[in-house]
Amino acid sequence: MKINKLNNAISIVHNLMEERIRPGNIVLDGTVGNGNDIMYMSKLIGKTGKAYGFDIQNTAIENTRKLLSTLDYKNFILIKDGHEFVDKYVEEPLDFIVYNLGYLPRGDKTIKTKAHTTKISIEKSLNLLKRDGMICIVAYPGHEGGMEEQLVIQDLLSRLNQKNFNVLELKFINQKNSPPILYIIQKINSNGVA
Ligand SMILES: C[S@@+](CC[C@H](N)C(=O)[O-])C[C@H]1O[C@@H](n2cnc3c(N)ncnc32)[C@H](O)[C@@H]1O
Repeated sequence: MKINKLNNAISIVHNLMEERIRPGNIVLDGTVGNGNDIMYMSKLIGKTGKAYGFDIQNTAIENTRKLLSTLDYKNFILIKDGHEFVDKYVEEPLDFIVYNLGYLPRGDKTIKTKAHTTKISIEKSLNLLKRDGMICIVAYPGHEGGMEEQLVIQDLLSRLNQKNFNVLELKFINQKNSPPILYIIQKINSNGVA
């Protein structure tokens, strides 16, 4: 993996996207927010790919739609619904999935991802993932409710069968103020279900 700066979970995720995502891939952003992560993926999959994006807030969907409208092709489907209902909208196998949890930067901090629904969504995403596909999850234990969410994710992922999934937990052990924790999951067996 080619990483320029190791100081930030999102830049590691973007480097992984560059490494893994190819034109024509099908990808999903479980929390589009201001659209930066789905934009990164939309450029990599090009006009032959497809990017699904979920968010529960109108503001997030509209901010993302505005950002993606600067692309000269439309390879995305934005869904204003909870990512816990992902299987209602997505049936095809996915190459790459990202969740940047918590609240919308510069938005309403009371509207944020929750342990219970995040767990449901990740379980469904694990089943939608293609063999060799990856999921990146950025969790924020420093936010209110964020520690509970991170522990639920850790518990879920630590129980995955190692014959089916590789699972990494990356944390910045010398950073102050509860830095984010990054989970990277790779499906290694096409029978791998959660
Ligand atoms: C940290 S932001 C995402 C940042 C975004 N990926 C970006 O590049 O700007 C988290 C987002 O999760 C959304 N969210 C909260 N609960 C959700 C749920 N159940 N399903 C989908 N999105 C949710 C919030 O509305 C918020 O916009």
